[in-house]
Amino acid sequence: MKDKIKNPLDSLDHWEDDLLERYPEKNLKSKEEYRDYDTSDRAEGVKNFYRLNHQYQTYDFVSKKEKEFLAFNRKKMSLWDAVDFLNTLVDDSDPDIELDQFQHLLQTSESIRADGHEDWFVLTGFIHDLGKVLCLFGEPQWAVVGDTFPVGCEFSNKIVYPEFFDFNPDAKNPIYNTPLGIYSQNCGLDKVKMSWGHDEYLYQILKNYLPKPALYMIRYHSFYAQHREESYNHLMSEEDHELFKWVKKFNAYDLYSKAPTPPDSKALRPYYETLVAKYLPKTLNF
Ligand SMILES: [Fe+2]
Ligand SMILES: [Fe+2]
Repeated sequence: MKDKIKNPLDSLDHWEDDLLERYPEKNLKSKEEYRDYDTSDRAEGVKNFYRLNHQYQTYDFVSKKEKEFLAFNRKKMSLWDAVDFLNTLVDDSDPDIELDQFQHLLQTSESIRADGHEDWFVLTGFIHDLGKVLCLFGEPQWAVVGDTFPVGCEFSNKIVYPEFFDFNPDAKNPIYNTPLGIYSQNCGLDKVKMSWGHDEYLYQILKNYLPKPALYMIRYHSFYAQHREESYNHLMSEEDHELFKWVKKFNAYDLYSKAPTPPDSKALRPYYETLVAKYLPKTLNF
């Protein structure tokens, strides 16, 4: 059993399952068709998870994590090693109904492929969550997954559980607690520090290898307060708005492709090996 106080989620996927309740798929599968467990337990875990996340994701915390992890001196791995490594992440929730991480990735990428999108988009679906290896480097859940949001300026009340930002010292700091904070009007997201997690981490690892729309999908896929709620338009540049069309497109696949039938990972592997080799070097620094 994991430490419920430090890591309140029984499974990392529970925050994503919770997203499905916040943003249900229009007139399609009902939430019952996804996974099935005691939702009240999960809701409690998710709430405690966001309490920690909103309390501790400060500007200084993010700066500290960037120093720590963007040196990339932890592990040299091929992308496939990273997938296998991520598969060693065992959650507490019922293993009978959990797909392994490889299958989760394939579900996203296969639904992108089925719609005839370009290969780099398929690849993005396949790799977008690999930054979750942060958990295996000992990071707490609240510094790996969950909605992301800008730090260094006011926290939007469109972020899930906004009341928990009362515990975040930045919310009381006059340098940070105005709509623009340390930023300038429409400065562009590249100048904005986001709360730390698997999105930014993987973006930094892959930033030289994929087309810009792919990098935006990876970097901002958990930024629901913007791609769903548009509550940070004052920081967005024209280019950000253009590229967020891709982030929105991607989000539908990320959230709604968790069909109950697992993909045939063995049969699919050769296709993905070729695809990975086309875009990525043999080893990556984590
Ligand atoms: Fe993710
Ligand atoms: Fe995902």
